[in-house]
Amino acid sequence: MKRTLDLTGKKAVVFGVATDASIGWHIAKALNDNGCRIALGYQDRVEQFVLPLAKQLNKPVLAKCDMMDDFLIERFFETIEKEFGKFDILVHSVAFAKKDFLQGKFYDVDRKGFNTAMEVSAFSLPNLVKAGGRLMNENASVISMTYLGSVMAVQNYNVMGVCKAALESATRYLAMDLGEKGIRVNAISAGPIKTLAASGIAGFDSILSHAEKKALLKRNIDADDVANLALFLASDLSRNITGQVIYVDAGYSVNGM
Ligand SMILES: NC(=O)c1ccc[n+]([C@@H]2O[C@H](COP(=O)([O-])OP(=O)(O)OC[C@H]3O[C@@H](n4cnc5c(N)ncnc54)[C@H](O)[C@@H]3O)[C@@H](O)[C@H]2O)c1
Repeated sequence: MKRTLDLTGKKAVVFGVATDASIGWHIAKALNDNGCRIALGYQDRVEQFVLPLAKQLNKPVLAKCDMMDDFLIERFFETIEKEFGKFDILVHSVAFAKKDFLQGKFYDVDRKGFNTAMEVSAFSLPNLVKAGGRLMNENASVISMTYLGSVMAVQNYNVMGVCKAALESATRYLAMDLGEKGIRVNAISAGPIKTLAASGIAGFDSILSHAEKKALLKRNIDADDVANLALFLASDLSRNITGQVIYVDAGYSVNGM
């Protein structure tokens, strides 16, 4: 077996780049630097940040996309079909909940806030697979981003924890759906990293300092640690890993004290 992380000739579709701090950006850059061609599906509101960043990529495909808009999603994959034909890697690095619901009591979330968070952060994964699945090559890899708040109660994470539980479950069901095509679906559970989305969570700085103290490695992770795992999951080195939630958290989640 050839053991290589060289992704030359592969094509990756990445959702969730907003700034140079975005986990999605670090993954896109790492995939690009390892030989992939990249397509970014980005929200209209972040275009001003994404277009300058994309200059660092080799002939990227750039198209607006919004998880709340099926028409835009269809148009996005039409662009991908035209530019790429088929693709090999789908990165889902997208989440949203209104700031009001990332503080205080979880039960204060209202119906609309709950549904929006779920739609953008969890439903979007199967919805993207449904819309873009016909363009995925055999042995393609689908990768999404999750957090420990899915399996443990983390103060202020609230509705997003429930969304991440759904996303992790969706990972297993999609792995079942796509297994016979040789397509793998995994989620990366990352430790806390300061990003735009993270800044919406009340008390995020204290989550960071607590994580640093409790992590077995006594440090926080950064977005490149996540990108490194994404590279492995995108490559054939992980060809028999599917339906998994894999932690990159410097050992935080296994510290019982
Ligand atoms: N930062 C952390 O501490 C951390 C830890 C674990 C997991 N994650 C997860 O990583 C992923 C990326 O988040 P990040 O921390 O890089 O923050 P980020 O703000 O840089 O990225 C979030 C992305 O979601 C996109 N998005 C939001 N609503 C959307 C919509 N309706 N349609 C399309 N895109 C939409 C935003 O444009 C943005 O690009 C998220 O799933 C997040 O939950 C983050």
